[in-house]
Amino acid sequence: MNDKPTLIVATNNAHKLLEIETLLGDYCSLRSLQDVGYTNDIPETGETLEENSLIKAETIFRKYKLNVLSDDSGLEVEILDGDPGVDTAIYAGEPRNDERNIDKLLKELDNQSVRNARFRTVLTLYFNNEVHQFEGIVEGIIASERRGSNGFGYDPIFIPENHKHTFAEMESSEKNKISHRSRALDKLMQFLKK
Ligand code: IMP
Repeated sequence: MNDKPTLIVATNNAHKLLEIETLLGDYCSLRSLQDVGYTNDIPETGETLEENSLIKAETIFRKYKLNVLSDDSGLEVEILDGDPGVDTAIYAGEPRNDERNIDKLLKELDNQSVRNARFRTVLTLYFNNEVHQFEGIVEGIIASERRGSNGFGYDPIFIPENHKHTFAEMESSEKNKISHRSRALDKLMQFLKK
């Protein structure tokens, strides 16, 4: 298809990029930050996922003046009043480290029977000089220990609702059917199809 819109995907996370390419690749021609030669880290100075997602998209749009898609995601744990939330990536401090983040969360929830949590993602689309945001949520629980080796981030300890396995025990195709990111991308695709 020649009329596929081109989008720069404003993430340096190779896993996120792959998930987005898998779900959106048929509808859009995607370019990574590496493709356009952007090598800096984009500062995440916002107080919400919405703000950080917007900052990422704006930073890249201002520089390249091309349509941009960005993603900011967080894990919201009920018993922790929604933490780590916007600080999910640096929960155990900087520099960001998935293993230390998981260790900290498992410690916080030690002996805790209420383990409800949700992943939330906010996509920002800069498209034809307009800004649109799309939210995706998957509810679930935090496992008592790591299970599985697929995926990234907190996948080894997140069990989505109505499932027995963690995201890290699932094939990527199974995760992609139900994940927060795929739910937000579904909304975005509906928008682009209009
Ligand atoms: P950010 O959106 O890149 O700021 O990432 C926020 C945090 O959430 C990071 O620690 C990621 O590893 C984590 N994260 C985002 N999406 C997922 C996911 O699909 N699975 C597991 N962890 C995720």
